[in-house]
Amino acid sequence: MIIFMIIGISALDMIEGRMIGEDVPMSVMHEEWMTKHDRFYKDDAEKERRLKIFKENVEHIEYVNKFGGLKYKLGINKFTDLTNEEFKAIYNGFRFSNVGLKKGTRGFRYENFTDLPASVDWRARGAVTPIKDQGQCGCCWAFSAVASVEGITKITSGKLISLSEQELVDCDTNQDQGCNGGIMDDAFEFIIKNGGLTTEANYPYKAIDSTCNNMKEASHIATISGYEDVPTNSESSLMKAVENQPVSVAIDAGGSDFQHYSSGVFTGDCGTNLDHGVAVVGYGSASDGTKYWLVRNSWGSSWGENGYIRMQRDVGDDEGLCGIAMQASYPTT
Ligand SMILES: *[C@@H]1O[C@H](CO)[C@@H](O)[C@H](O)[C@H]1NC(C)=O
Repeated sequence: MIIFMIIGISALDMIEGRMIGEDVPMSVMHEEWMTKHDRFYKDDAEKERRLKIFKENVEHIEYVNKFGGLKYKLGINKFTDLTNEEFKAIYNGFRFSNVGLKKGTRGFRYENFTDLPASVDWRARGAVTPIKDQGQCGCCWAFSAVASVEGITKITSGKLISLSEQELVDCDTNQDQGCNGGIMDDAFEFIIKNGGLTTEANYPYKAIDSTCNNMKEASHIATISGYEDVPTNSESSLMKAVENQPVSVAIDAGGSDFQHYSSGVFTGDCGTNLDHGVAVVGYGSASDGTKYWLVRNSWGSSWGENGYIRMQRDVGDDEGLCGIAMQASYPTT
């Protein structure tokens, strides 16, 4: 138990405005965290329960940062009062699809691309909108699909337009299930059949399932004509695709290290149980040579590196880290 006391005290260096090693009880840290994140609990029993989870998470974060010897750091964030099971249930809404895997029969237009640059960042090329926040709604699949549609729209039209996830949540209900999950390829199919997708401004995000607004649905600001799946389990193919446009990917984001990722190149604590949709908007190598995918998440800009995570690339497993190369796809115009 002594070791946990020491870890608990050193955790204080992560609270803004506090001196390292300042001896503040975990309950005070939790109060400060509640204020920062506007968190309220329904009664004292719930607060006690949350404090206990918060404490366990802080101890885990400190332990991994001090003794993990990893290329990434964890940090206290807005998810720190959630157990890993709660976190997974709320935020990870990608529904693994064997049907999706079969769709890989479409062509892969980038297969003959060679001499790829050492790094790509679609943010610098102006094809990525500011980080969004899905809130407590498991529609990561909509954010992932919209990010790659925003990308191809900018590339082909020259215009970067923030597009509507809520339209997908409300109107793409034949195959996808709004806040209860979905698949990016099905979202692309909806956009094709619907004749386009409207803007974020016209059909703003509400983080809840609601009725499709048919008038807004009829506004077709961004159009795509098709989509293709990147050949499965091939990081080299994924690299060719990402060199050409932002790509939607599914990953296993269910680990507690992913929940609390703060910075650096993420190298693991994940399997290949695909449960989260995100977008790869670049790749590169860290200063120590570790290769990474630049991944845009939809958990707000306070998570990770301003809303992004760098995930290790070329890991040796065909599936890629956290299964990132298993179900990658991109829209075409
Ligand atoms: C790639 O090159 C091969 C051989 O020249 C050709 O048969 C194939 O059609 C090319 N693929 C694409 C997508 O252009």
